[in-house]
Amino acid sequence: MSATYVCCAAERRFGKDSMGTLIQGAMPGEGQALLDRFAGQVQTIYLDPPFNTGKQFDLKVRIGEEGYRTGARTMMLPAYDDRWPDREQYLQMMRETLVLSRALLKKEGTIFLHIDSRMHAHMRLLMDEIFGENNFLNEIIWSYQTGGRAKTYFPRKHDVILFYAKSRSYYFNLKGAPMERAQARSNHMKRAVDEEGRSYRSIVSAGKEYRYYDDEPAYPGDVWDDISHLQQKDPERSGYETQKPLKLLERIISCATQEGDLVCDLFCGSGTTAVAAAKLGRRFLCVDQSPLAIAVAGKRLSLTTGGKETGFAYDVEAPCGADNCRAEAEVFPAISSYTVRLIDFACEEAEAQGVKGLDAVDHWSAGFIQGDTYRGCVSSARTGATPALKTVMEMPVCAGEPCVMIVDIWGNRRFYLPRRRY
Ligand SMILES: C[S@@+](CC[C@H](N)C(=O)[O-])C[C@H]1O[C@@H](n2cnc3c(N)ncnc32)[C@H](O)[C@@H]1O
Repeated sequence: MSATYVCCAAERRFGKDSMGTLIQGAMPGEGQALLDRFAGQVQTIYLDPPFNTGKQFDLKVRIGEEGYRTGARTMMLPAYDDRWPDREQYLQMMRETLVLSRALLKKEGTIFLHIDSRMHAHMRLLMDEIFGENNFLNEIIWSYQTGGRAKTYFPRKHDVILFYAKSRSYYFNLKGAPMERAQARSNHMKRAVDEEGRSYRSIVSAGKEYRYYDDEPAYPGDVWDDISHLQQKDPERSGYETQKPLKLLERIISCATQEGDLVCDLFCGSGTTAVAAAKLGRRFLCVDQSPLAIAVAGKRLSLTTGGKETGFAYDVEAPCGADNCRAEAEVFPAISSYTVRLIDFACEEAEAQGVKGLDAVDHWSAGFIQGDTYRGCVSSARTGATPALKTVMEMPVCAGEPCVMIVDIWGNRRFYLPRRRY
């Protein structure tokens, strides 16, 4: 007998304080619901929207134990489509999202809009219009070495991050993101060692000598060339195309927010903003239209180490996957706990693509249903270090009905009441 399919509107964690919420929803449609709950509460917003590239982007997933163990079994799944019927529709989506973003911000809030040369000029004008020319702070150039080598024009090797404030009383702390002096640009300066043996670089301007000691931190300017794009084999890589490096978000969040502040990303993709925010002790509100993005972001959060522990707690609000699969799971009572066993998972659609049984499961958890909310207690995810899923897990006895959540490799989350063995 199979486990019974149920649908839960939200997923939350038992026991740990949640660092934030991942919401599956499309902008600007999701806008009003966000405003109803978060208007005027956000300290900083980072937006890395589609760039109107005319391309489709994929997630490279590893399949089953073999996929994680050897990397030999993988699949490219469509993550998002950046093809637009015309530029006006793209600009309209961005306009509405930026108006909404402004309303989400606190008076002291700021926004970072990541864009490239395709839409940069349009976005600069749109940002001036929505946030006000007087609230423009920086045009940050993120310069990197990766990408193609054009021959008919100079290779394009940078993105632009437009930085605006909501008002003149915005919060910003340049010293929040110190860099090692060696990383800062100083090639043109003279090197020397002072009488105490400390090495420094110096420059003379208008007759005055300025010294920059190697053992003192430097602070970033508006050209960032010390953060590289993720390399092919970078351990940070989730397989989600267009994923940005954590260092980039850590710099932004460290300078634009303080501990406990709310950070928002309305195109969160693989969850880089959420992970950076949680690591820095900030709360997050991250939205994406793609179920794959929400699944990847959630998995990254639960595998990230922060402080002494591995795994940040977070909430998910996302539609349930369709009731078109069959799960076999059972629950046994022990003295003060339950043992939950995941036996099988079968989906015709998955099997049609050659993915059978538990190979279709990327991660799962066990917990309890309370009202229309699933509260997870224990979880197991496939990773390079642990390619096999745990199929038996123990969880404490809590209020509510025992339940399992299965997230398949397509990012669909389904909930099942396991068969009771008592
Ligand atoms: C450039 S990617 C973001 C990558 C992300 N910064 C990261 O580090 O992984 C853009 C994301 O926007 C999402 N997206 C596209 N259109 C959207 C919309 N209208 N509403 C919400 N998300 C959208 C896509 O699914 C994609 O994940």
